[in-house]
Amino acid sequence: MKYIIVTGASRGIGRALSEKLMSTGHHLFCISREINHDLLSLAASKNIPMDYFAADLMHVSELDDLMKRMIRQIDGAVAESIYLINNAAVVQPVDIISRSDPNEIIAHMNINLLAPMVLTSSFMKHTAPFKADKRVMNISSGLSFNLKPMLSCYSTSKAGLETFVKSIAVEQSDVKIMGVRPGATDTRMYEESVITDEHADKIKLAGTGYAADRILTFLFERFEHGKVVKGW
Ligand SMILES: NC(=O)c1ccc[n+]([C@@H]2O[C@H](COP(=O)([O-])OP(=O)(O)OC[C@H]3O[C@@H](n4cnc5c(N)ncnc54)[C@H](OP(=O)(O)O)[C@@H]3O)[C@@H](O)[C@H]2O)c1
Repeated sequence: MKYIIVTGASRGIGRALSEKLMSTGHHLFCISREINHDLLSLAASKNIPMDYFAADLMHVSELDDLMKRMIRQIDGAVAESIYLINNAAVVQPVDIISRSDPNEIIAHMNINLLAPMVLTSSFMKHTAPFKADKRVMNISSGLSFNLKPMLSCYSTSKAGLETFVKSIAVEQSDVKIMGVRPGATDTRMYEESVITDEHADKIKLAGTGYAADRILTFLFERFEHGKVVKGW
């Protein structure tokens, strides 16, 4: 059995990942603030075990407990793989930093950087007894280095996430860790991140299904411990 945790499953790329992961032999754990009942119904119709947790990743001190609740459901006798996909993120505040609300800056860093760090730490701790193949895939962005005005929080959180991937890889290899940067994809986050129409007009957006396929190719077939790669 492959056990796979997907954060940010309610819409966008995370929803597409969850749908594509509905295969026999997979047990899915989905996280977002809103429960996506369509996903739950689809999983039930396909007979795929899915546990959906309504959780706000902003509350980082609660995430160790959340991870414990998920890992408790894993049957060590059949667990061949255990994967965590840190996909959930926000783009706000989209503004110059001097105008950004301090609480929005804090929420941004909690959701985009601290939550994946704490979830990875808890994942490693609580899966330690399992002999399974263990992987963490962090979803980054080309904006981690391609800097634009009004997106300093987003660029900073994604650059931090990428450094986290590389740092963890030099300290241990029991759990493999990687990062992938999807290209521009047609989601609510993309809409919210567009600063000028001129910028938006030039970009051809990928569909969420395509983005999910690319990410899953890296997760299953082209996983490289400590690497952060371009999705396409
Ligand atoms: N779209 C792009 O062009 C693009 C490009 C490069 C990288 N990415 C990356 O791809 C990933 C997915 O982005 P997307 O475009 O699919 O975004 P999206 O459509 O806005 O979806 C974001 C997901 O994250 C969840 N989320 C947000 N805040 C949360 C919180 N506080 N607690 C729990 N879950 C939360 C949302 O669920 P709820 O609102 O229900 O909580 C939603 O399921 C992100 O890491 C993003 O940075 C996107």
